[in-house]
Amino acid sequence: MSSSEIRTIPYTRPSITELEVEYATDAAANGWGEHCYTYISRFEEAFKAYLGVKYVIATSSCTGALHLGMHAMGIGPGDEVIMADTNWIATAAPIVHLGAKPVFVDILPDSWCLDPEQVEAAITMNTKAIVAVHLYGNLCDMDALLEIGKRHGIPVIEDAAEAIGSVYQGKRAGSMGSFGAFSFHGTKTITTGEGGMFVTNDFALYEKVMTLSNHGRVLGEQKQFWPEMVGFKYKMSNIQAAIGCAQMQRISTLVERKREVLQLYKNEFERMGIPNYGFNPEMHGCLIGAWMTTVVMGVPSETSKLSENLQLSLKNRGIDARPFFAPLSSTPPFRGRLSISSLSKKWSYSIPPVALNLPCSHDISESDICYVCNTLKEALV
Ligand SMILES: Cc1ncc(COP(=O)(O)O)c(C=O)c1O
Repeated sequence: MSSSEIRTIPYTRPSITELEVEYATDAAANGWGEHCYTYISRFEEAFKAYLGVKYVIATSSCTGALHLGMHAMGIGPGDEVIMADTNWIATAAPIVHLGAKPVFVDILPDSWCLDPEQVEAAITMNTKAIVAVHLYGNLCDMDALLEIGKRHGIPVIEDAAEAIGSVYQGKRAGSMGSFGAFSFHGTKTITTGEGGMFVTNDFALYEKVMTLSNHGRVLGEQKQFWPEMVGFKYKMSNIQAAIGCAQMQRISTLVERKREVLQLYKNEFERMGIPNYGFNPEMHGCLIGAWMTTVVMGVPSETSKLSENLQLSLKNRGIDARPFFAPLSSTPPFRGRLSISSLSKKWSYSIPPVALNLPCSHDISESDICYVCNTLKEALV
């Protein structure tokens, strides 16, 4: 790499082939009238088979799927929902919209996901659910969380927005909790532009979500334009689902490539002898979907400027890296609301200042990965 070289490397973008274009074109040309749900049904069937769950509902976003599921569970004013402090606000927003309170607990330093001990310490009489977010495609300790949930009679929801392709002890992320929610935003491993999926094995919950998602019209109701309650409109369009069908046909390749990109970064770091770093962890018995290649450099510290400085150095070379999620309890809507036990090291505060999301599109070249790693190495000295 010459010292004056500048490339343009996006942090992520979807993998769109002629197949996606063909299906979307067909949906635009023919997917109306009696065919207006054809691709939606196909996409739902393909997703259901991939995940190994009984019921799925395609939605306009993951946020919508979470909102529907939480509403159907009866989460409302006065209730508390425990979730990780390290997160995108999309998980907390539906809780707030329902009039309930998100309770933020710390993450584990090795998975960057919910710390089960902290979850248990945060449970009160008002706790209505625990949301396990599989951050960046990493996996929460589901055995521990499900056991805590069972012991206290509290359902565990899986926010698997970032975790398609991740497998925990043989079970796919999103398939283990009371319900799961996925995102198909344009940055995700599979995309429909915007979009989401609600998934569950619980028929009663599915029925409620189906009704809520369809403006309160009960599943199987013959009478037309007849709502039984006030619901929501969080539907996916047939054209979006057409793109989703093509992505599902390619899902193994898409997930495999994400894992490959992460491995290429790991190999390059090792080859270059960069010290003290850790990439997305893969726990024993787990396989991560590696949605977002993320690196933690050096020693976690709340006051470090390392991530900020590295991001700037990369930007100066045309590389679009992104910051690790700031703790939600540091953001204006939730400032100061971290629920921590005396044991806490506040990893949600000390990891982001030394962590970065690296460019990891499916089509990133090995040469671009080397360029990113070289730029990082130069910025570190
Ligand atoms: C962890 C997490 N949950 C929920 C969402 C919301 O997904 P969507 O944009 O499809 O609503 C995102 C989006 O990036 C996310 O990262």
